[in-house]
Amino acid sequence: MTKSKRVAVLPGDGIGVDVLREAVRLLEAIDKKRPLSLDLWHLDLGADRYLRDRTTLPKETFEEVRDTCGAILLGALGDPRVPGLEHARDILFGFRFGLELYANVRTVKCLHDKLCPLKNKPASAVNFTVFRENTEGVYVGVGGQVRRGTPDEIAINEDINTRKGVERILRAAFDFAKQHGKTRVHMADKSNAMKHAHELWYRAFFEVARDYPGIEARHVYVDALCLYMIQEPENIQVVVTNNLFGDIVTDLGAALQGGLGMAPSGNINWARRGPALFEPVHGSAPPLAGKDIANPFASALTVGMMLDYLGFAGLEAAIEDSVRDCVVADECTRDVGGSLGTRAAMDKLIARVSDRL
Ligand code: NAD
Ligand code: IPM
Ligand code: MN
Repeated sequence: MTKSKRVAVLPGDGIGVDVLREAVRLLEAIDKKRPLSLDLWHLDLGADRYLRDRTTLPKETFEEVRDTCGAILLGALGDPRVPGLEHARDILFGFRFGLELYANVRTVKCLHDKLCPLKNKPASAVNFTVFRENTEGVYVGVGGQVRRGTPDEIAINEDINTRKGVERILRAAFDFAKQHGKTRVHMADKSNAMKHAHELWYRAFFEVARDYPGIEARHVYVDALCLYMIQEPENIQVVVTNNLFGDIVTDLGAALQGGLGMAPSGNINWARRGPALFEPVHGSAPPLAGKDIANPFASALTVGMMLDYLGFAGLEAAIEDSVRDCVVADECTRDVGGSLGTRAAMDKLIARVSDRL
């Protein structure tokens, strides 16, 4: 299927604006060497808009994205002026849930030894992909508070796990493993403590695994997964887990890649392959916003994932290799060992990507 080349661009808040400005420059530079014919549709959604007129994600905008776009490129959402983060949830979950982007695919790959924080481990030890369930779990928002503000207060967030939702993310992880020549999938849960919800994950995992002979299905409790991610990441190839655990372990994964400034992600409906949402794993980092400090490489790698999804061959690798070269040459921001600002780091990256095309 040929995908729509219309891309909704949604910088959002804080450093989301800083890094998406650079991501768009990267796309424009690539387009000069290798015409992409993308139609970028800039969306004015985020905290500024919300504070101006209370708009979060209008129904018509959502529907137009759903019906006309191949991808959404998002910066980050979250602004201290909106302490309840209601705009962020409406927009982020509006797309994740509304488009049924049930696979949050997060690449945990350390591009160079300089970025690897582990003693006596090379960068090549850190190279795996996390499939985070993206539409269920505690993120559904089922729950409530009673006796609020009293000593007898009760606060509940239910953990929602459906057979359909669990099975489809497990299949996505195994499909990915098969397509990419991987030989092992780890599933991380807490079935020792959460005997109802995670027993479903445990049972479904080994049932689904039967359809993928040749791929080892390894169950691990999520606390132990955190240990193995540090002690023996070389044994991890693909991880599949629930929404909340996936959120947490991918920040730990980002630390293994050189920080949140290096971690890309894609939110995908694995079965339908319709419009997908691509975003760096990091948030809006309010203290860094607007100061030309934020690392733009996570969003550059995210652009790579998006271009691959849209069907452009070779560009993801060109971006990844160029990011690696920039880091090696100290042509990068401070968080990854350089001394450049956001814009200057992207200038260097653009030069290297352009040379490769
Ligand atoms: P954060 O990711 O914004 O920042 C965590 C740490 O990483 C900070 O020290 C920050 O300076 C650093 N960091 C992050 N991105 C960086 C980059 N590109 N370059 C250099 N350093 C970088 O997480 P947080 O502080 O917990 O959250 C801030 C806001 O972002 C909150 O409102 C949160 O809800 C939101 N958030 C949004 C998303 C999203 O939109 N997908 C993701 C995570 C957090
Ligand atoms: C992420 C973020 C979001 C999440 C927040 C902003 C709700 O941390 O994309 O990792 O938890 O999914
Ligand atoms: Mn997160």
